[in-house]
Amino acid sequence: MSFLRLDKIITDSGVCSRSQAKEWIRQGRVAVNGAVCTDPASKWDPATTGFSVNGEPIRESGHIYVMLHKPAGVLTAARDPRQPTVMDLMPPAWKKRGLFPVGRLDKDTTGLLLLTDDGEWGHRIISPKSRVSKLYEARVDGTAAPEDAEAFRRGIVLKDGLQCLPAGLEILSPSLVRVTVFEGKYHQVKRMLASRGLPVTALKRLRVGGLGLDESLSPGEYRLLTKEETEAVAPGMLSK
Ligand code: URA
Repeated sequence: MSFLRLDKIITDSGVCSRSQAKEWIRQGRVAVNGAVCTDPASKWDPATTGFSVNGEPIRESGHIYVMLHKPAGVLTAARDPRQPTVMDLMPPAWKKRGLFPVGRLDKDTTGLLLLTDDGEWGHRIISPKSRVSKLYEARVDGTAAPEDAEAFRRGIVLKDGLQCLPAGLEILSPSLVRVTVFEGKYHQVKRMLASRGLPVTALKRLRVGGLGLDESLSPGEYRLLTKEETEAVAPGMLSK
């Protein structure tokens, strides 16, 4: 039997840094055998004890699945010599584990961005074969009309001749629309709307598959996904 400090056990599971573990424990976000424990220095035997963080049991696989409310002005890239990236918003302990963004949002796009260190899960979500839906809200300069929604339903042909899969266009008001796509071509939503004479002035991703952006997260904030959420993104795809 070997007893370890609670903050060390939580850190070793890979979900956060040591300082974050201490903070979460003090905030009552960590449970030991189902009961909240707020003492980071308390000692437990990891072999015989169950731990959960934010209501989610620590996973044996140790993979991390993160939802970020991406703010405008940061690149979706692992690193960049000049500009801030989404990785700069992540705790160093996660970066060391090989966390990477799943897919890409433009620098000025906000909203739901997933990050993980589970390559298989990430790859399946972005693979065009998986047809995982993405829902965006776009403010456009112009007036969206029912003919635009019909053109989206048929499949937009971009200005360079590229054929898009059939997509959804919901008109919330003449200059506010929701777009659902099932693929991830470069600047896809902006280019689809531009092809209809509707240049995008603001773009936010609201949903990926069955997972919606947690609107309690302010831009720049992130949290771990629950197991249910990890599965909801792309049902049946969770890596073993
Ligand atoms: N489509 C775009 O045009 N930009 C994004 O950031 C995402 C989808």
